[in-house]
Amino acid sequence: MSKLLIKNGTIVNSNDTYVSDILVENGKIVKIDKDISISDCDVIDATGKHVLPGLIDLHVHLREPGLEYKEDIESGSKAAVHGGFTGIACMPNTKPVCDNAVTVGYIVNRAKEVGLCKVYPIGAATKGLDGAELAEIGKMKKLGAVAVSDDGKPVATGQMTRLVMEYAADFSIKLHAHCEDKSLSGDGVVNEGKYSTFVGLKGIPNVSETAGVVREIAIAENFNKEVHICHVSTKESVDAIRQAKARGVKVTAETCPHYFTLTDEAIVNFDTSTKVNPPLRAESDRLAIIEGLRDGTIDAIATDHAPHHVDDKRVEYAYAAFGITGLETSFALSYTKLVKENGFTMSKLVKLMSENPAKIINVDGGKIEVGECADLAIVDLGADWVVDKTKFYSKGKNTPFDGMKVSGQVFATVFGGKIVYKEDKIYG
Ligand code: DOR
Ligand code: ZN
Ligand code: ZN
Repeated sequence: MSKLLIKNGTIVNSNDTYVSDILVENGKIVKIDKDISISDCDVIDATGKHVLPGLIDLHVHLREPGLEYKEDIESGSKAAVHGGFTGIACMPNTKPVCDNAVTVGYIVNRAKEVGLCKVYPIGAATKGLDGAELAEIGKMKKLGAVAVSDDGKPVATGQMTRLVMEYAADFSIKLHAHCEDKSLSGDGVVNEGKYSTFVGLKGIPNVSETAGVVREIAIAENFNKEVHICHVSTKESVDAIRQAKARGVKVTAETCPHYFTLTDEAIVNFDTSTKVNPPLRAESDRLAIIEGLRDGTIDAIATDHAPHHVDDKRVEYAYAAFGITGLETSFALSYTKLVKENGFTMSKLVKLMSENPAKIINVDGGKIEVGECADLAIVDLGADWVVDKTKFYSKGKNTPFDGMKVSGQVFATVFGGKIVYKEDKIYG
């Protein structure tokens, strides 16, 4: 019988914060109390540290099968636990596309073999992400898919979006929508605004995203179906989601740390690690995203962890791949920007990074209580550190945050009652 005792940490749930010990047996939290003393078990001294429910990321790209030169399930799982994540939902734009039950089953099994964290596959909404034919939504759900998405692009047409929403609902899952009107994006590579003009790169206007968000909301509303909006980056999208929620539309939304940390000013030196879709936006958008998180319009922080090989990024800006690697910087950026600089509470952060993500994909987790699975992130809020991409476990070093000073560091990650990461070491 394996036991783990976490001593004296500040436990953070979305509704309370208190200092206590946590006793874990056989992967479950069996006791939460002051001064638990027990012999013959592993002990983590969490004095001065905060113990959070394991973080859950609704949006990562693990690239396996087929694109393992960018990332694989093992390297992505290591990056996840280094970042305090115990559950990650991975997008289907792999090679082949994850649009069938066999591929979903493969991902689930491979992740179990690696055994560092839960990996929740998101199946393709349409076969080959082509928008022409529905994917095997029911069969994929049976094998463990938690949602469907054509991420990388929107579901091609309104009619197909309607069918995906209706079909997914029949299996109690929903569409995670990459919202974009591709005709408005054209061959844009950065936000359309003063910086795109200044550097001479083609722009992607805000309405490219917002038109997609409004379409998804209108379809969900008309047919009374659920939809989850991926990687919100614009003020107008936040406004549209806020108004939809007020009308009772069943919409949830995520944003990513890069949208509340950086603006398109970061593109001026042509660093391709700033190239991401949707693009980094203006300061007014960044501020609207923070307000959207604050008032609950945006439910969750996801990373859109999009690792790329150096060869995909070390080219002229216009030709570089879109994407930012995010798992190993998400907690610190969120803590630094939202809690330290904008007055969010740690409980609110737990809601955004664990409780709400768990609810959106209907999986366990999100709270520290007796009987819950022992998936935990132990963090040191007093630690200031400098992001160093060479220390990432992810194969993707494509981060615009390299060299940035941040606060809040993951000290240890516990998955199913086992220490899987502690003080710079992974325990497989
Ligand atoms: O920046 C992005 N990278 N946006 C996407 O929609 C896809 C993703 C990827 O797969 O690299
Ligand atoms: Zn996307
Ligand atoms: Zn994505």
